[in-house]
Amino acid sequence: NIEQDLRGKKVLISAGGTREAIDPVRYIANRSSGKMGYALAKRALARGAEVTLVTGPTKLTPPAGVTTYEIQTAAELEEAMLTHYAKQDIVIMAAAVADYRVKTVAEQKIKKNAETWQLELVKNPDILKRLGELKREQVLVGFAAETTDLLAHATKKLQQKNADLLVANDVSRKDIGFGADDNEAWLLTRKNAPKATGKLKKTQLADLILSSALQLRGES
Ligand code: C5P
Repeated sequence: NIEQDLRGKKVLISAGGTREAIDPVRYIANRSSGKMGYALAKRALARGAEVTLVTGPTKLTPPAGVTTYEIQTAAELEEAMLTHYAKQDIVIMAAAVADYRVKTVAEQKIKKNAETWQLELVKNPDILKRLGELKREQVLVGFAAETTDLLAHATKKLQQKNADLLVANDVSRKDIGFGADDNEAWLLTRKNAPKATGKLKKTQLADLILSSALQLRGES
């Protein structure tokens, strides 16, 4: 029964983009809409899983029945993921995490003055990589949004982050990826050759990702 094939399974999903504060009124963000992560949460719930969603700010409403935690920064996202990680069967990092944050967040609004302004940034933790290091029984799923050399970059990420499944998509295309309802991806695993999904609704791609992860869970 495909409808309930995730019954008894715990699935942890991150979604949306993070926000890194500059001062009390400004932040650094990215183009993530959260649609892919929310589609995963919705489909995992429909298939019977116990779903935890950790989400950056989005315009979307979390599906009723999903335990949801709202975060803003990469540091908050990391903390939430680590808190819930140990008990999960499947963990999916669909969030677009800021790679850098502002080194010193100003307590007061920064006034405009000079003609140029340099912000100093420091690297954020790579959460997926950290989860890969701590991995035990969990099936770990990551994403790779690329504009060039999609498969080469994705293959490297699968290895370097110790993920079991990597979903790679070309974000230079307007019709798929950021903000769109459709997506077309490559699914990469450690054992098999990359598989192209063809163009799908994000909910259909979510089902494919969940099915692949469930299969890997069975093999582990
Ligand atoms: O290295 P890159 O950012 O392209 O890797 C993308 C994958 O890594 C996504 O699954 C994303 O959620 C995750 N990631 C992360 N922490 C970061 C950057 C990316 O978990 N600081």
